[in-house]
Amino acid sequence: MKIRIIAVAILGIFLYSCSPKVIAPVTEVKKVELTPELAAGRTLYENNCAKCHKLYSPTNFSEQDWKPILVRMQKKARLDDAQMVEISNYIYSQL
Ligand code: HEC
Repeated sequence: MKIRIIAVAILGIFLYSCSPKVIAPVTEVKKVELTPELAAGRTLYENNCAKCHKLYSPTNFSEQDWKPILVRMQKKARLDDAQMVEISNYIYSQL
């Protein structure tokens, strides 16, 4: 009888030590969800800013660099200020 209790105890310890460890959930990859406004800005950017050259990635330039570029490109792309605000907000959200 005693031997069975010991056997069960050992089996229990054995099973416990072999049970899969609870793996801590992988910290979520930070993915910036675009708000509808930013998504609209991205669409404007994609549709208007790749007509004359390839679409530049927002991360190609810093915010300081983008400012004068966007002023120059607004004239080239013939976009109004409201559209340009949307495009700028999208670009800055990606930096
Ligand atoms: C009518 C044509 C045209 C359109 C539309 C246009 N671009 Fe350009 N873009 C150019 C030309 C030409 C250059 C290179 C000469 C220059 O820098 O002025 C250029 C250069 C650039 C550069 C590189 C600047 C640098 O200093 O290296 C960026 C970034 C850029 N454009 C972004 C944009 C964005 C954002 C838009 C949309 C708002 C846009 N472009 C729309 C013609 C255009």
